[in-house]
Amino acid sequence: MIKACKELKRKKNAVILAHYYAPAEAQKLADHVGDSFYLAKMARQSDADIIVFCGVSFMGESAKLLCPDKKVLMPDLGADCAMAHMASEEKISELRRQYDDLAVVCYINSTARLKALSDVCVTSSNAVKIVSALPNKNIFFIPDAHLGAYVKEQLAGKKNIILNDGYCPVHTKISKESVSELKQKHPEARVLAHPECKGEVLELSDFIGSTLDIIKFAKADTGKEYIVCTEVGVEYKLKIDSPDKSFFFPSPCPCCGDMKLNTPENIYKVLDLEINEVEVDGDLAKRAMLPLERMLELGK
Ligand code: 13P
Ligand code: SF4
Repeated sequence: MIKACKELKRKKNAVILAHYYAPAEAQKLADHVGDSFYLAKMARQSDADIIVFCGVSFMGESAKLLCPDKKVLMPDLGADCAMAHMASEEKISELRRQYDDLAVVCYINSTARLKALSDVCVTSSNAVKIVSALPNKNIFFIPDAHLGAYVKEQLAGKKNIILNDGYCPVHTKISKESVSELKQKHPEARVLAHPECKGEVLELSDFIGSTLDIIKFAKADTGKEYIVCTEVGVEYKLKIDSPDKSFFFPSPCPCCGDMKLNTPENIYKVLDLEINEVEVDGDLAKRAMLPLERMLELGK
């Protein structure tokens, strides 16, 4: 299947992008594997005619917004991110009325509709940098409450960050008890966490960063054991980079079912039949693209 996908990809001048949470088989046949920010940049830079995006719908949508002339296909159109919908238009309007200088900062894990209502997008790898670069004092951070709280803490005294109540169902299931239990079993292990985790987990962490930052940290670090507080798909790359290191995941194992819909069979099928195309309505696309473009500019 992997060989057949690679041949088809060449024939159709397609590029396959995969997030680290996609199944290992999808990561194996992808041209680029990365975190949300890296993949958005790769989509933008690509000269392929077709992008097959092995991620969830907000990632495919962002690729389509950044590359309106390309065909963007998703291996399964049902692969969605629950958090991407967790903010309300009413709350945004209410806060815009309340604060003259409000900037709505939208985590890229969001629908195009929410992006269109925002001033700038961020990802977990550039949120602190971008929010601190904004001229606005008052910030409404949507949809993720936990990444928002992390940015708020990093920029304490500099920005007034108003939090929303969205969350990632996978990362919020990671508890401080499960991390402490692993710490007891592996006292030498360093704790690496994604900022979508709850504050109580981040407090126990030695390093906080995006999926790519976690992978880079583990590779460069001199330790031998790590407790990894993010989705289990990162294990594939962690083990490739550091086969002699041990990685432990909290229990229950953090697994994003939607990401796992990106199977090689689905990748082959959509590329072969050119189905599951991502479409974003023209007017919405224009408005949702602006905060994404601003992110790429400020994130440089
Ligand atoms: P990254 O931006 O770190 O890849 O995170 C994406 C994501 O969906 C985390 O749950
Ligand atoms: Fe969304 Fe969480 Fe899955 Fe990431 S891990 S895609 S935030 S549900």
